[in-house]
Amino acid sequence: MSRKEKSIELLNKAVADELLAVHQYMYFHFRCDDMGYDLLSGLFKRTAIQEMMHVETAFRTYLVLERRSGNENLRGCSENPRTERNAGIGHGHGRR
Ligand SMILES: [Fe+2]
Repeated sequence: MSRKEKSIELLNKAVADELLAVHQYMYFHFRCDDMGYDLLSGLFKRTAIQEMMHVETAFRTYLVLERRSGNENLRGCSENPRTERNAGIGHGHGRR
């Protein structure tokens, strides 16, 4: 497996982990809301939203890498100049 393929594989795993985190935080948001734990419910909701932003960061990083590799299908996308600076993804969610 080439370094590029390995990088894409790692990004895919980062996106999967972030999406799993979103799902789990939203689940506990709804559960706590249903049981009347409003403050905790709100905390889980805000955390889920932060995880959604991590998904976006990982995906934008993927787009930057694809553009640099010369993928014609992605040339029309606008590059976010913040993307490369904010590429701190995959920060230890792991499977829960
Ligand atoms: Fe995250």
